[in-house]
Amino acid sequence: MAQHGCVDIPAAQAVLVPTETIPETPVVRGYDFANGRDLDGIMDAMLTTGFQATSFGQAIQEVNRMINWRLSDEPVGPGTDPDHVDPEFRASTRAMIFLGFTSNLTSAGVREHIRYLVQNRMVDVLVTTAGGIEEDFIKCMGHTYLGDFQLKGAELRMKGLNRIGNMLVPNSNYCKFEDWIIPILDAMLKEQQEQGVNWTPSKLIDRLGKEINHPDSIYYWAHKNGIPVFCPAITDGSIGDMLFFHSYKSPGLRVDVVEDIRRINDLAMRATPRKTGMIILGGGVPKHHICNANLMRNGADFAVYLNTAQEFDGSDSGARPDEAVSWGKIRIDAKPVKVCGDATILFPLLISQTFARHWRPLEPSQKKEEPSSGSDGVFKATFD
Ligand SMILES: NC(=O)c1ccc[n+]([C@@H]2O[C@H](COP(=O)([O-])OP(=O)(O)OC[C@H]3O[C@@H](n4cnc5c(N)ncnc54)[C@H](O)[C@@H]3O)[C@@H](O)[C@H]2O)c1
Repeated sequence: MAQHGCVDIPAAQAVLVPTETIPETPVVRGYDFANGRDLDGIMDAMLTTGFQATSFGQAIQEVNRMINWRLSDEPVGPGTDPDHVDPEFRASTRAMIFLGFTSNLTSAGVREHIRYLVQNRMVDVLVTTAGGIEEDFIKCMGHTYLGDFQLKGAELRMKGLNRIGNMLVPNSNYCKFEDWIIPILDAMLKEQQEQGVNWTPSKLIDRLGKEINHPDSIYYWAHKNGIPVFCPAITDGSIGDMLFFHSYKSPGLRVDVVEDIRRINDLAMRATPRKTGMIILGGGVPKHHICNANLMRNGADFAVYLNTAQEFDGSDSGARPDEAVSWGKIRIDAKPVKVCGDATILFPLLISQTFARHWRPLEPSQKKEEPSSGSDGVFKATFD
């Protein structure tokens, strides 16, 4: 009979079954603050800290795999397309990165993080919901303020203040937005009637990005850099209110979602020889829309989800990446990661250890070679 200390009892044997082998896996160890307040050191130690910190460390690794991948990492074999064998071309061909985010993240300061990625052409395709579009433009016209989750709705209503979590948006901001957007919708209607323009949500967002002409705006940079922005549920927000009012004032404007589903699915399907990566903040439409587009190419090669949703209710928002693997939306050999937590905290930390730390701009001589989402044939065929 096994002994536990000096005690020779069956209970000790039951509690402390002898360890046979230690699995080959890292030792749990957190950051040692004796080494000072070192952001990179703290972030590097996430991987071995356990729980969501470990998932976060894995997400850092996955995004770095995504941004460091080049076609030149893959062997040139007998089946390689002759157009894709040139070493310069291979060295300048990166993964196509889809970034999705819920509306509230544009209301929050995550807007500035997204703007940084778009301004520097670090991501290729954006997907969000209506608030994720309009809140960016509205912030060019008036501020969003910090408030409190506990502020009373009835009192805020009397003061003309709208609450988003612990943030406040004055009604006057939406009045400025209306004054700005209605003449643009008038001009779009005229172009539809006189030039036959077939407006889509992505073309509408691109036009607004051009008109806002403000360097704080995500969509100003998306317009400048030819980065397409998809928003299939464009009417579920203040933009929808504006389209509703406009339909009474000057009926006839059409926004075609079918052309846009072709455009985003074509982008994913024809990304080859590029790999594709997904970074999805929050759930809902942006999460599914990006995953579904990647189904068209038999799944994304890289994937990171940051969200608070859980899977017990069967929601798509809460589904872990493995559910998307079952649908063919993420490749079976991928190493996708989900981190459970608030993207307002996680995303800037993730950027600090990935895009802001390891992004390598292409050499000037390589830039003309880079196949970007804005310059490929599919984009032009559907956008021009
Ligand atoms: N500012 C706004 O939030 C705003 C403004 C106007 C319109 N709307 C509309 O409301 C509708 C619902 O918004 P939605 O679809 O963008 O998302 P949502 O707010 O319904 O969120 C979807 C899921 O994403 C996850 N999530 C949300 N915030 C997160 C965070 N900070 N960190 C991690 N995970 C998070 C949660 O699991 C949530 O259930 C949309 O049609 C949108 O256009 C929103």
